[in-house]
Amino acid sequence: MLDRRHRFRRAARTAAVAAIGVVVLASCGSDTGPSNKQNALRPAGPNAKKILDLTRPFFWVAVVIGLGVLFGTIYVAIRFRAKPGEDREPKQVHGNTKLEVSWTIIPALILAIMAVPTIATVFSLAKRPSGPDVVHVTVSARQWWWQYTYTDPNNGIITANEMHIPIDVPVALTLVGPPKCSGDGCYNNGVIHSFWVPELNGKKDVVPGRTQFLTIEASRPGTFLGQCAEYCGLSHANMRLRVIAEPMDQYKTWVQSQLDVKPKADLEKGVEADKWGCQSCHSFEAKVAGAVAPNLTKLATRCAFAGDIFTTNKENLTNWIYNAPSLKPMGNLTQHMPNFSEQGMTKDEAASIAQFLLDNTNSGSVPPPECKS
Ligand code: CUA
Repeated sequence: MLDRRHRFRRAARTAAVAAIGVVVLASCGSDTGPSNKQNALRPAGPNAKKILDLTRPFFWVAVVIGLGVLFGTIYVAIRFRAKPGEDREPKQVHGNTKLEVSWTIIPALILAIMAVPTIATVFSLAKRPSGPDVVHVTVSARQWWWQYTYTDPNNGIITANEMHIPIDVPVALTLVGPPKCSGDGCYNNGVIHSFWVPELNGKKDVVPGRTQFLTIEASRPGTFLGQCAEYCGLSHANMRLRVIAEPMDQYKTWVQSQLDVKPKADLEKGVEADKWGCQSCHSFEAKVAGAVAPNLTKLATRCAFAGDIFTTNKENLTNWIYNAPSLKPMGNLTQHMPNFSEQGMTKDEAASIAQFLLDNTNSGSVPPPECKS
């Protein structure tokens, strides 16, 4: 009777462990888990897939080794435990050459074998794409937003946080670090950032004074979210980005919308009337980067602003213009969107600037792209 109960309990325990194991392992398969647009287990292009293809077998190797060690330890602990009332010394040994050599050589061999596909993948991901189709974009990291300059083709489009790319075309990113911070007039951008869109490729640091390269490519249309992945100050968590991958014809429409700038006079009318000095930081010329802040000529074609954290609409823009530091911590950054409410701006003035921007920074004739979150 006692024996049967004991056996039943043991079977129940085994079943529970197996069930938990299945649940845990099921979450590791590909194409599962949250579709949060930031899931490295759901690669959306060849580069991210190469990383997953490397990760997956290594994961299972680690599972086998981990379980072997775990169950080996449990087995030894149970098998050789002191039984009640037993009073014996275990056999005393000192060293075991055969064991020590084997547990040095076997892991070294496993690591050496795993190094082969790892190095191959590193080199394969580092290869820079070439050819007439390749889209080249220079990515500059700022505190706390991203600037993209489409260098070739579409020479000169400048935008922020939101990058449009055509599908099935490699996009060669040149990641330019912020200027090195030195001495007086030190520009507060001299910190390390990291560009990461998990579904399109691994992360790559953006380092002051250095230039790095990363290729992203999407095999299907969609919005893929990204994140600065290196702590870069108070609003590191507010330094997001999105990549919108679209079929070539839609991408070309977007390019046209970025080139089709409202007559400069329209913008300047508003900018001249601007007593708050927006243009001392922001650029209102299509192909000129802002001094320290995003180019605003196409603001209303972007789904979100301020490091991709607020949806572009009148209410959010008004609040941002009125008192930005209350919405995104700026810390002791010397150059940042100020608190204009402290300088005497009224909410109504902020709202009219927001409306002006929405009216004048969409596109001359091409409708702004739809924002699917
Ligand atoms: Cu930029 Cu963290």
